[in-house]
Amino acid sequence: MPHSTMSSCCKRMQSLCLGFLLLCLLTTVQADVNGSVSPIIGVLAQELYPDSLSATTYNATSYIAASYVKFIEGAGGRVVPIWIGRNQSYYEKLLLNLQGVLLPGGATWFIETLGYGDAGEHLIRIAKQINDNGTYFPVWGTCLGMELMVLKVANGSETRSDCNSAGQALPLEFQADYNSSRLFAGASDEVISALSNENITYNYHRFCYTVASFDEPALKDNWRIMSLNHDLQGYEFVSTIEHLKYPFYGVEFHPEIPLYEFVGTKMPHTKSAVLASQYFADFFVNEARQCPHVFANATEQKRSLIYNYNPKYTSLAGSSYTQQYVFHFDVDSVFGDDDSLYPLPYPYPTGAGAEKHYFGFAFVITIALSAFVATQHC
Ligand SMILES: *[C@@H]1O[C@H](CO)[C@@H](O)[C@H](O)[C@H]1NC(C)=O
Ligand SMILES: *[C@@H]1O[C@H](CO)[C@@H](O)[C@H](O)[C@H]1NC(C)=O
Ligand SMILES: *[C@@H]1O[C@H](CO)[C@@H](O)[C@H](O)[C@H]1NC(C)=O
Ligand SMILES: *[C@@H]1O[C@H](CO)[C@@H](O)[C@H](O)[C@H]1NC(C)=O
Ligand SMILES: *[C@@H]1O[C@H](CO)[C@@H](O)[C@H](O)[C@H]1NC(C)=O
Ligand SMILES: *[C@@H]1O[C@H](CO)[C@@H](O)[C@H](O)[C@H]1NC(C)=O
Ligand SMILES: *[C@@H]1O[C@H](CO)[C@@H](O)[C@H](O)[C@H]1NC(C)=O
Ligand SMILES: *[C@@H]1O[C@H](CO)[C@@H](O)[C@H](O)[C@H]1NC(C)=O
Repeated sequence: MPHSTMSSCCKRMQSLCLGFLLLCLLTTVQADVNGSVSPIIGVLAQELYPDSLSATTYNATSYIAASYVKFIEGAGGRVVPIWIGRNQSYYEKLLLNLQGVLLPGGATWFIETLGYGDAGEHLIRIAKQINDNGTYFPVWGTCLGMELMVLKVANGSETRSDCNSAGQALPLEFQADYNSSRLFAGASDEVISALSNENITYNYHRFCYTVASFDEPALKDNWRIMSLNHDLQGYEFVSTIEHLKYPFYGVEFHPEIPLYEFVGTKMPHTKSAVLASQYFADFFVNEARQCPHVFANATEQKRSLIYNYNPKYTSLAGSSYTQQYVFHFDVDSVFGDDDSLYPLPYPYPTGAGAEKHYFGFAFVITIALSAFVATQHC
């Protein structure tokens, strides 16, 4: 075959391929409107005490530690912040758009009016209802979030004990039938071996549940205990659980820390710590894939996603979190008297036409680049 013929055939192939690639990219832009693309999970905010460092430094009233957002994002999910201090109808409306809820750890009391505890009560009640109504809706609780989830599933019956686990990296003490759990059934030997033998689950908590607390009437026969651990005084506590009926999961340690937090000398960041932590993130995001919830439309979804906010590098100011999303709107004045999902003076350009611009732009680029490639040699 003469060289010139081969070259022009090659050129045509190349421009065809490029055009096709760009069409694929364009299709992706088009499809990025709901959770059928990637799960959208709500992460609950938490109140800041007025005299706390982040409150005074950033004039903020609530926050979400960015590590919990990255935990979801690093497993292919997307995040919507869930505000504290709102009423039942807000939480109900929002959860019907989300595919799961993550209750982060932190440091607050459950009795703060219109705080994390009250929001958690709404979220658990609604999540149970959604599941009871036949729609799969998973909830993940980490540390204080696990404590809150267990408390609220038990209708507020407090069964926590005092614990001292201030900065302890531990292997999990798996219980006999841990591998019949949903959480661990799919874990690789490598993950199980790392979790069983290495100091890679990072604990920082002052309360905990014991095996005996799960024998209390409010908790009995509701939860499977997969692993235990011992605190700095040797006090035994429950470190991983799953609900027997609902897709609810709890861990007393912090799987987001080896991946995304870098304040504190005892935090494990080894290859196995990262591998095992990522397992938990992947597991939960995959659970959320089973929930068919979607936002009513693309505008509603875009206005709600966490991308509308920027995290701050808060450890520079002395926070124990590397980065935090800090919120400083006053709920009553910003939300006004409706139960909309996002604050009202809203920066996002409204209108359903945003995708059309992407489409036109991508189309022009495709043509231009294809023409350019067609003039080049192989
Ligand atoms: C979600 O997006 C996919 C891809 O664009 C689309 O096929 C599907 O109809 C959408 N579902 C809803 C409920 O909007
Ligand atoms: C803090 O934020 C509130 C509500 O946004 C605002 O009214 C107040 O003026 C701010 N205070 C300072 C010191 O910036
Ligand atoms: C569950 O179903 C009941 C009965 O149809 C309905 O009243 C309730 O609003 C539903 N709850 C949720 C959260 O879907
Ligand atoms: C909590 O209350 C609900 C609704 O009243 C009830 O169905 C459920 O059995 C209660 N759970 C516990 C653990 O008491
Ligand atoms: C669970 O672990 C036990 C003990 O290591 C083992 O004998 C059993 O085969 C495992 N079961 C599954 C389903 O992996
Ligand atoms: C885990 O930590 C404990 C307590 O600090 C230590 O005694 C043990 O040797 C560590 N185990 C491994 C495998 O590093
Ligand atoms: C999107 O959904 C919201 C909530 O249902 C609705 O108020 C709004 O009019 C819808 N917007 C478009 C462009 O369909
Ligand atoms: C929630 O609060 C909003 C604003 O205060 C109000 O309009 C709405 O009726 C409330 N909904 C419920 C169920 O209390």
